Amino acid sequence: MIRATARPLAGLALAALALAGCKGNEKTQLAQWGVKETVQSGERGTGMEQVYDMDDVNVRYAATNIPTSLPPAGTSPPGPLPWKNVQVLNDISVAEFNRTMVAFSTWVAGTGNCAYCHNVANFSADTLNDGTPIYTKLVARRMIQMTRHINGQYSAHVKNTGVTCYTCHRGKPLPNGLWFYGDQDDYLRHYLDRDGARVISQTEGPTNANRSSVKQTEYTYALMISMSKSLNVNCTYCHNSRAFSRWEQSPPARVTAYHGIYMVRDLNQNYLSPLRPVYPAVRLGPMGDAPKAQCLTCHNNAYKPLYGAQMTKDYPAVWGRSEWNGVPFPAFGAAIAATAPEAAPAADSAAAAAPAAAPTPAVDAPPPAPAAPQGNAQPRTNR
Ligand code: HEC
Ligand code: HEC
Ligand code: HEC
Ligand code: HEC
Repeated sequence: MIRATARPLAGLALAALALAGCKGNEKTQLAQWGVKETVQSGERGTGMEQVYDMDDVNVRYAATNIPTSLPPAGTSPPGPLPWKNVQVLNDISVAEFNRTMVAFSTWVAGTGNCAYCHNVANFSADTLNDGTPIYTKLVARRMIQMTRHINGQYSAHVKNTGVTCYTCHRGKPLPNGLWFYGDQDDYLRHYLDRDGARVISQTEGPTNANRSSVKQTEYTYALMISMSKSLNVNCTYCHNSRAFSRWEQSPPARVTAYHGIYMVRDLNQNYLSPLRPVYPAVRLGPMGDAPKAQCLTCHNNAYKPLYGAQMTKDYPAVWGRSEWNGVPFPAFGAAIAATAPEAAPAADSAAAAAPAAAPTPAVDAPPPAPAAPQGNAQPRTNR
C-alpha cells in the first residue's frame, strides 16, 4: 500500500516509480504476481484510490515490446555535415543522425528497411528515379517536426517521459486510433475543430445560464468514455464522482488530460490534417481527409504510453528541447569542435569559432497556450 499523506502528487510519483519507471532490462521490478497496488489519487479524506492489478500491468507492459535503445553515437568526422537534403535533422552530429535513421527503420517501418522511406540509389532524393514523390519520406520529415513540437512545447503533458516515433507507431506504419471525418456529430471532432465539453449546470435552480442540451451531454459522455478507454482507466482517474465538473476536487491527472486535449487538437490541426496532399488516395478517409490522432494513438490503453518507459531521453533527435533531464542537446557545432579543434588555420579564427556556437534544436513557435482550466465557469457552446 502506497500512501501519500501530504500531497497526492507524491503518491502519483511513487506510483510512476513502482509501476512504470522500468526499462526493458528492469522488468523484474514488476514481477510481483498477484499483488495489488493501491495509490491514493485524491485529497486526503476523499477515499479516492487507484487499484492496480500487477498481473495485468506485467502482461501489458511486456506486450509493449519496447526495442532496446541503440548504443550511443560515437564521435563524428570533422567538417561540415555531408547531407544534401536534410531540412530538420541538421542540428545533430553525423553519428547521431545515422543512429536515428536506424531507429526509424525499427520504430516506424518495422522491417529495419531504409527503402520504406528512401530511394536507396539516392538517399537525399525525395522522389524515386522516375520523379514520383516518396510520400513516406515527406510524411516522416513532418513527423520529426511534430515529435519535436510535442516534446518541446507540451512538457505540461508529456513531462520528461516524452514521445518517440515508437510511442505512436509501435513498429508499424499505421498507428492505432486513426480516425477520419464521419458525420457532424462525431465526438472525435472535439480533437480537431469543436469546442466545449462542459455541460454541468453551475446553479441550483433552473436558469437560462446553462443551455446545454441532452445531445450535447451525450456528446461529452461519448468523449469521456473514449478517453477512459484510451487510457484503460475509470472516470475516477480524473474525476471525483461526487462533483464531475469541480477542478479543485479532481485528481491532478485531469489537468494533465486537459493539456492533452489541446495538444491533440494542435497536432491534428497543424501537422496531421495538412498532410492531406502528400498522402496517396488510399490513405485518405471517405471524405478525403488525412488520418488523424486521438488519445489512444499514444496511450494504447495505458495510463501512460508504454507505461511511462523512458525512451525519449536516449534519442536527442526527437527532443525539441535544448536539454533533457539536464543533459544538453548534442548540437553538431559542439561535436565538430570537440573532434577537430586543431583543424582551424589561424588566419581563419573567426570562421573557425563559428561552428562552436551550438545552435539550439529547431523548435516551432509555441502553440497558443491553453487557458488554465476555469474554476467552474460558463458552459461553452458546443458548436
Ligand atoms: C521512417 C522513414 C525513414 C526511414 C525508415 C529511414 N529514413 Fe533516412 N531520412 C528520412 C527523412 C525524413 C530524411 C530527411 C530528414 C530531414 O530533412 O531532416 C532522411 C534522410 C536521410 C539521409 C540524408 C540524405 C541527404 O544527403 O540528404 C540519409 C543518408 C539517410 N536518411 C539514410 C537512411 C538509412 C541508411 C536508413 C536505413 C537504416 C534510413 N535512412 C531510414 C526518413 C527515413
Ligand atoms: C502522435 C503520434 C505520432 C508520432 C509521435 C509519430 N507519428 Fe508518424 N504517423 C502518425 C499518424 C496518425 C499517421 C497517419 C497514418 C497513415 O498514414 O494512415 C502517421 C504516419 C506516418 C508515416 C506514413 C505511414 C504510411 O505508410 O502511410 C510515416 C512514414 C511516419 N508517420 C513516420 C514517423 C516518424 C519517423 C516519426 C518519429 C519522428 C513519427 N512518425 C512519429 C502519428 C504519429
Ligand atoms: C483522462 C482523464 C479523464 C477521464 C478518464 C474522464 N474525464 Fe471527464 N473530463 C476530463 C477533462 C480534462 C474535462 C474538462 C474538459 C474541458 O473543460 O474542456 C472533463 C469534463 C467532464 C465533464 C463535463 C464537466 C462540466 O464542467 O460540465 C463530465 C460530465 C465528465 N467529464 C464526465 C466523465 C465521465 C462520466 C467519465 C467516465 C466515463 C470521465 N469524465 C472520464 C478528464 C477526464
Ligand atoms: C503525443 C502522445 C500523447 C497523446 C496524443 C496523449 N498523451 Fe497523455 N500522456 C503522454 C505521455 C508521454 C504521458 C506520460 C507523462 C508522464 O510521464 O507523466 C501522458 C500522460 C497522461 C496522463 C497522466 C497519467 C498519470 O498517471 O499521471 C493523462 C491523464 C493523460 N496523459 C491523458 C491524455 C488524454 C485524455 C489524451 C487525449 C486527449 C492524451 N493523454 C493524449 C502522451 C500523450
